[in-house]
Amino acid sequence: MSVTDPEPPAPGVRADAAQEALHDRIAADSLTTRRDYLRIVATVSGGLAVGGIGVASGILHRHGDSEGVPPLRKVADRIEPGESLAFRYPGDEDRAIAVRMEDGTLAGYSAVCTHLACAVLWRKDRGSEGELYCPCHEGVFDARTGEVTAGPPPRGLPKVILVEQPDGSVWAVGTARSGETLQEGYCRERGAGGPLCARLEGGGAPEAPGRSERSERT
Ligand code: FES
Repeated sequence: MSVTDPEPPAPGVRADAAQEALHDRIAADSLTTRRDYLRIVATVSGGLAVGGIGVASGILHRHGDSEGVPPLRKVADRIEPGESLAFRYPGDEDRAIAVRMEDGTLAGYSAVCTHLACAVLWRKDRGSEGELYCPCHEGVFDARTGEVTAGPPPRGLPKVILVEQPDGSVWAVGTARSGETLQEGYCRERGAGGPLCARLEGGGAPEAPGRSERSERT
């Protein structure tokens, strides 16, 4: 699948209503400990606005630096193994990318390079299982962790916390900064009482029966 923006909500379905419904399901899952409701998969999102100098100096907004609680946002109806998807999160200007690896692992990151803010791309043909690649100065990031594996980027990519629903739809529910675990990011943004806060302990997430997704551990 080519890299495209997510499809808009289905006709007649209000985005806020969908988000509210998802939130209710997450809360219900937490209360009843029905852990097969959701698969939490790793992802990354960050969000730089513009320009490497501003990024480096901390003047500009970066992924993981969003103020307030980020929205619950549907990213895709489904992401198949080997596919990637470009989307915006947490803000409408924050470029992010979701990747489904061949073994089912789903990960998401900011698509803004931590070096000088070029766009990070998914290159399935690079490395043993694909890489996140910045063509500006040959920066390379590990697709499973977001950490720098080559080139000048000074730090790993911020993450986007993704949740996969039983119907295969993928939702972004939060972000984690470079060097921060998914749990640290989620609990910072939503507080210790957030419905997924405890479940993200250790960086992992429950897997749905019959699937081989491996939760990203950070
Ligand atoms: Fe990405 Fe320089 S901007 S490696």
